[in-house]
Amino acid sequence: MPTTVHALQGDITQLPVQAIVNAANAALLGGGGVDGAIHRAAGPQLLEACRQLGGCTTGEAKLTLGYRLPAEYVIHTVGPVWHGGDRAEPALLAACYRRALELAAAQGIRSLAFPSISTGVYGYPLALAAQIAVSTVRAALKECSGFDEVIFCCFSASDLQVYQRLLAAPPGAKPAPI
Ligand code: APR
Repeated sequence: MPTTVHALQGDITQLPVQAIVNAANAALLGGGGVDGAIHRAAGPQLLEACRQLGGCTTGEAKLTLGYRLPAEYVIHTVGPVWHGGDRAEPALLAACYRRALELAAAQGIRSLAFPSISTGVYGYPLALAAQIAVSTVRAALKECSGFDEVIFCCFSASDLQVYQRLLAAPPGAKPAPI
């Protein structure tokens, strides 16, 4: 059964998927952006669970329950801060997507949603980040076959357009100029 990979515009905290991915920081103690939204929606137990995790390094991912969220789990990952692209940002961003999928597969999770990791506070240009997100997820799904659905949850219509253009291109094709 092939995995459905698609993009939508919305609030990731509302999605009825088994797991949502959080764009966290290394402390894993909450923050603004999607991190703040997830903690607000999940309730205080999420922070308690995160306190037991001992932080997370950039490119790595850690799992907790979702508590009051519709999602059963939250996979916390820490994206790279954008410094122009010559400090291994692309590889670290790709690692976030790959490690999140590996963790989800190990937990038997079959549906999950990603925000656009690093493209807010961390300043990663959306178009570059989205190309890495789509290509990394497509490649990882060749190894992890147990997923029914992977969603790129975009917070804005303009972000959604970028992802939809990338997803419309056949795997491996050079994406149309953005
Ligand atoms: N649902 C989906 N996407 C969201 C939501 C939401 N409720 N809220 C924000 N976003 C989007 C942003 O529009 C952006 O496209 O998530 C993407 C990631 O932006 P940030 O949340 O700023 O995350 P990031 O750029 O990875 O920076 C991480 O910000 O919030 C702090 O604690 C976090 O220090 C960490 C840093």
